[in-house]
Amino acid sequence: MMSKDLNGRRVVVTGAGSGIGFALARHAAQAGAQVAIVDILMDKAKAAAAEIGALGADARGFGCDVTQPAEVDRLKDAIMLELGGADIFFNNAGVGVGGRVDEISPEDWAWTFAVNVTGIANCVRVFTPVLRAAAAEGREAWFVNTGSEHSLGIPTIGANNAYTASKHAVLGLSDVMRSDLSADGIKVAVLCPGLVSTRLYDAGTSRPEAFGGAFSLPSEHRAQFIEVMKTGQDPALTAAICFEGLERGDFIIIADPDVRSFAEARINEIQRALDVIDERFRGVEQ
Ligand SMILES: NC(=O)c1ccc[n+]([C@@H]2O[C@H](COP(=O)([O-])OP(=O)(O)OC[C@H]3O[C@@H](n4cnc5c(N)ncnc54)[C@H](O)[C@@H]3O)[C@@H](O)[C@H]2O)c1
Repeated sequence: MMSKDLNGRRVVVTGAGSGIGFALARHAAQAGAQVAIVDILMDKAKAAAAEIGALGADARGFGCDVTQPAEVDRLKDAIMLELGGADIFFNNAGVGVGGRVDEISPEDWAWTFAVNVTGIANCVRVFTPVLRAAAAEGREAWFVNTGSEHSLGIPTIGANNAYTASKHAVLGLSDVMRSDLSADGIKVAVLCPGLVSTRLYDAGTSRPEAFGGAFSLPSEHRAQFIEVMKTGQDPALTAAICFEGLERGDFIIIADPDVRSFAEARINEIQRALDVIDERFRGVEQ
């Protein structure tokens, strides 16, 4: 059970230059943790660390693109040097692009999965030994993956091509991590926020060259997206709900009651399919 007091904990958050990642890092820092703020944009990571550091916390910024295994290896070296290890690792970096499923480009499919799914796998490969060492010292070790409402069904706002598919994959990956890493004493949770008021609409500004390079949304589309995001949850509340879930030791942490309707629709769909197959096999010799 994780205590509210995070004194002495070493917390790493990817994609923490803004939004939910920044709020998770600030929450942890205010609870006494030493925090490593990781972002593909080094300047953003450093600025976020300075802002959290100004609250009297120990916060350091690191540049790392989680899609690049070699950069994640270098991040581990830097974290070991500066923090001496890690106890709680938030796989939070995530991106998404708009458009219909049949219109999204091959580069955007690759980019979305590279950040949202393989980015987690890259960090798990490199940081599992670090967390395993922490657990062996009797410290509480966690990987916390930021999934989404899109991990649990199709939100009322609609499905969103590769993003929805990738966030379903985050749930599956989290499950695999839970079963494989429990023997190492590492706990796993998946955070499923609803709509949160962040700068996700500017995700394209950090798209690496390998996936087509940086882009901004057309101004009208961006303005609409900004209006929608304004209606989202305050990221500070999302972070607080996440830490409440970790205190309880939850695997799935849902951060918004609106998720119920479409998560239940998916549960009911599976239930109906189970009833159909039960009926199909009723009385039939297996
Ligand atoms: N905002 C929402 O409504 C919402 C809802 C559910 C889940 N999420 C998820 O929350 C997470 C955080 O998103 P956010 O909404 O705070 O958006 P955000 O754009 O404000 O923050 C994401 C951060 O990730 C960084 N980043 C992008 N690519 C990266 C990479 N390859 N390596 C390292 N850092 C990278 C960006 O520079 C940015 O600072 C994402 O996984 C997102 O899918 C967001």
